[in-house]
Amino acid sequence: MVNKDVYKEKLILAIETSCDETSASVVKDGREVLSNVISSQIEFYQNFGGVVPEIASRKHLENVIGVIDAAVKEAGITIKDLDAIGVTYGPGLVGALLVGVSAAKALSFALDIPLIKVNHLEGHIFANFLEHKNLEPPFIALIVSGGHTILVHVRDYNDFEVLGQTRDDAAGEAFDKVARVLGFPYPGGPYIEKTAQKGNENAIDFPKAFTNSKSEEFFEFSFSGLKSAVLNYINSAKQKGEEINVEDLAASFQKAVVDVLILKTVAAAQKYKVKNVVLAGGVAANKSLRLNLEKELAEINVALYYPSNILCTDNAAMIGSRAFYKYKEGVFEDSTLNLNAIPSLNLEEK
Ligand code: KG4
Ligand code: ZN
Repeated sequence: MVNKDVYKEKLILAIETSCDETSASVVKDGREVLSNVISSQIEFYQNFGGVVPEIASRKHLENVIGVIDAAVKEAGITIKDLDAIGVTYGPGLVGALLVGVSAAKALSFALDIPLIKVNHLEGHIFANFLEHKNLEPPFIALIVSGGHTILVHVRDYNDFEVLGQTRDDAAGEAFDKVARVLGFPYPGGPYIEKTAQKGNENAIDFPKAFTNSKSEEFFEFSFSGLKSAVLNYINSAKQKGEEINVEDLAASFQKAVVDVLILKTVAAAQKYKVKNVVLAGGVAANKSLRLNLEKELAEINVALYYPSNILCTDNAAMIGSRAFYKYKEGVFEDSTLNLNAIPSLNLEEK
């Protein structure tokens, strides 16, 4: 049996390169961020409408060592002070993931300290532990990012049950695709949110999938029908030569996404009788989602937690928090120097 007191004052260096941010962070005891250096590639993709995998891998290669050096320096430590290395090994772009995984293996080998593989999706959930010091499982987590929309019952630090996920597009992906058609740069979520603030959210009635609470599929999501409905609306207006009110369109689209997310999350909180719900992932930055969900949960005496915007989008600090709780429970024995990237990794269940 591991003596838990041994796991105090532990410093983990975490590395995240799953998509378009090269990030390294030093996290103490899974809860305290000593540094969180993020080098974003977003500017390279604004004209492409999305991340270009080949460019992502090259940029990670150029940046990863500098970002790690900066994270260690900013934390005011030396690499000899580190107790373990945490790294995202999936899901994500394979070439991008491999850059972080290779750097982490090299460091773990050279420093002779444990290597802890981290699931990026779990990392998003754990971002909440960095800012909400009293937050503890169990709770319901809604992960809403560019690649994923997943409702999870987090029973304990190392015990997750996936309740449902998207069958097609992720919520963030729908925001990005609609934004692209409206001519906004990538990633489009923040632009849609800003435009929606000036619009009437009840102007257009867009479809909402799997909303029958009696159905077995109730905790599943689907956003491709909504995306197509928005595109059809725009095309048919163009064909008729009609002006589109972009603000109303953005507001009505955002409402369709947010309403579905809230409906299912509130139902999950009730079904599993939790006192807390957490938001995670890039779309958790959306104020309409935060405010309306908070309001609805308050009516059933459930509290909502979400990370600040910098910890909602991809960052290594969240990976450091997740790595610590695996380290503490000794659930990392299978992280060896043979570790490989797994691009389509699912949330680990127990
Ligand atoms: O978690 P994240 O940084 O990367 C992935 O792992 O996917 O999420 C990025 C996604 C993008 O789709 C972006 O448009 C969306 O989060 N996003 C937003 C907002 N800020 C970022 N979507 C809606 N409203 C926002 N304010
Ligand atoms: Zn992410």
